[in-house]
Amino acid sequence: MQVQPESGCLIDPHGRHIRKLRVSLLDACNFRCFYCMPLETSFMPVTQLLTPGEIERICKSLVHLGIERIRVTGGEPTLRKDFEEIMSRLGKLPLDQLGVTSNGLRLKGHLEHLWSIGCHNLNFSLDSLQEERFERITFSKGFRTVLDTILAARSMGFNVKINTLLLKGKNDDEILDFVRFSAQEGIEVRFLELMKIGIASNGQKGLFMSADEAIDIISKRELLIPEEVELDSTSTAFRAESGARIGFIASESRPFCGHCSRLRLTADGQLRSCLMAPGGCSIRRVPEEHLKEVVCQVIAQKPMERNPSTLTRMNQIGG
Ligand code: GTP
Ligand code: SF4
Repeated sequence: MQVQPESGCLIDPHGRHIRKLRVSLLDACNFRCFYCMPLETSFMPVTQLLTPGEIERICKSLVHLGIERIRVTGGEPTLRKDFEEIMSRLGKLPLDQLGVTSNGLRLKGHLEHLWSIGCHNLNFSLDSLQEERFERITFSKGFRTVLDTILAARSMGFNVKINTLLLKGKNDDEILDFVRFSAQEGIEVRFLELMKIGIASNGQKGLFMSADEAIDIISKRELLIPEEVELDSTSTAFRAESGARIGFIASESRPFCGHCSRLRLTADGQLRSCLMAPGGCSIRRVPEEHLKEVVCQVIAQKPMERNPSTLTRMNQIGG
């Protein structure tokens, strides 16, 4: 039987309909992207992570309250040994969309499973199409594997998007290469602005490039035709004359908090109303009968305006 949503409290005090949940499975990552975390770093003890049963129970309750879409994130979610078990459990919930955001290095072996459980939305982080540069940005090998996985996922029919962080002086000379790649492979590429978050929170050392600068570069080559996106989308979307599908996640220059529909569940069970705002509420031990009340309290804290910066790293909240 399909559960009936009780979405009453999932309308926040500003009238935003909270319908998306990002679930971080762990804070650890097998990459060390220089803008994200230092080479030497420590992660949450495994014993602190939510178990598959806890993730299922919390997500089921939130879906019952009105959550319609879940995106699984990390750190890197595929580093969990029980990744497939968790995804199978989430795949049984009555969701309108289930997705994963991954760096792609260890995802290939999971593609068939993800497809079979109805998880059809895969977003990949990829900041360069050049092997050597990829290695310099991520401090990791595996460029070919990542690219291969992205193309395999596309061929299997997944809805695939590539997230490319704009890094002035590091990869801005590849913007047009990514546009060509999108046209050739039929994969949407979304350019992200570097957010003032974690180790990038202090001025970003000249790395920041705005979406408008990238749009200017592309527009000199070809016309970008705006496409409609959902009001609560993180990105804007354009179709280029070449057929490329290009998006921009302009979190810094054009924050989209006014239409934000997201809640976050951290790897240790904190429910947070915002990526940038401090605090959250641990819900792993909240009894079922009190959950709605706690969720409503968290949602009531959801900011309407973006915090300028946060020292907490994205992988600790759910990237
Ligand atoms: P879709 O489900 O495909 O719309 O994905 P998404 O854009 O919501 O998620 P994804 O994991 O691909 O996120 C891409 C980037 O969007 C992140 O790396 C962040 O830069 C940014 N982003 C994601 N969620 C939030 C959010 O809640 N707030 C802000 N300000 N930025 C976010
Ligand atoms: Fe939503 Fe907070 Fe991100 Fe703004 S900064 S879009 S309110 S999660």
